[in-house]
Amino acid sequence: MATVFHQDFPLDPFNTLRLPGNARRYAEIVSASQLIQLVRSGKLANERFFVLGGGSNLLVSGDVDATVLRMCIPGRELIASDDDAHYVRVGAGENWHDFVVWTLEMGWPGLENLALIPGTVGAAPVQNIGAYGLEVCERFYSLEAVDLRSGALVSFDHAACCFGYRDSIFKQDAANRFAITSVTFRLPKRWQPLLRYVELAREMAARALITPSAQQMMEAVMAIRQRKLPDPDVIPNAGSFFKNPVISAEQCAELKKFNPDMPNFPQPDGKEKLAAGWLIEKCGWKGHSEGPVGMYEHQALVLVNHGGATGVDVLRVVAAVRRDVVERFGIALEMEPVVI
Ligand code: EPU
Repeated sequence: MATVFHQDFPLDPFNTLRLPGNARRYAEIVSASQLIQLVRSGKLANERFFVLGGGSNLLVSGDVDATVLRMCIPGRELIASDDDAHYVRVGAGENWHDFVVWTLEMGWPGLENLALIPGTVGAAPVQNIGAYGLEVCERFYSLEAVDLRSGALVSFDHAACCFGYRDSIFKQDAANRFAITSVTFRLPKRWQPLLRYVELAREMAARALITPSAQQMMEAVMAIRQRKLPDPDVIPNAGSFFKNPVISAEQCAELKKFNPDMPNFPQPDGKEKLAAGWLIEKCGWKGHSEGPVGMYEHQALVLVNHGGATGVDVLRVVAAVRRDVVERFGIALEMEPVVI
């Protein structure tokens, strides 16, 4: 299939912070074979490019001097089942939440804790999306991606993805090298509700559900999210804007001396994860704005565009928040979204 290119194409409809910026060149990709053909035709040679999913983890800083390829590849398919699991292959362009809802309808639970996360299926492994006690790497089996240098279709198994907290090889060594075209999930047949996140367990108790179904789990997750997180269609945002910092046990103990109420979450490696939202709130940023950009009133970790913001406005607030958190706690927050 021939690829249609658009010049100076506006990206604001394709990023959930609704930041303005034109791509010098833009095209939509609907199949892996289209992308392979495009690479092999040489039309991407010596060209900067950026692979765009749902745009929900993206900071458009201005005009983008590159070719933007928006992944729109559809498809959902059960490719295998064994005694332990269903294996479901999904096109990179499918909407994440719609896919989660569909798996439950099909009777293949396992992704319900990740309901309502904005974005596409192809973007999910890139930053190893996670919420309410589950990371997508725990349900990931493999993925296929096109090597944008050679046009080869490459398969990545779990180990090859080097998953970490909001991290994978696609944010590190392989950044801008591959376009993910499909993802295969492994959904365990012996399903159990995953209630290790305290707030979710509390929600189930409040609903008097001791042995909830996957559907009931999904409904509870959606209710919690809707209470705390702004709907990007109403208030443009990119979900959590900073990663939760992971620090040494010693540094954590030191901070706790002066901040006894600071939440801390011990990690398997002995380090401590802190709640960036708490740190930001303590610096007075919860519900506070500078110009059109602020930190959300119900969740200080979510940066919001109250209307008309540019990437420059966002970066100004990011710098101010980071400066305040460094000054008060000595911690340098790391951004979650990718900047283009
Ligand atoms: N907190 C505050 N003030 C705030 C926000 C949070 O004090 O304004 C404290 C509270 O003590 C709370 C703790 O932070 O108990 C944790 O807050 P929350 O449960 O809302 O989770 P989070 O750590 O802020 C993470 C993910 C979210 C995910 C939730 C639920 C990151 C960066 N964020 O947020 O992911 O939905 O847990 O699992 O890891 C995303 O990445 O876009 C995202 C929304």
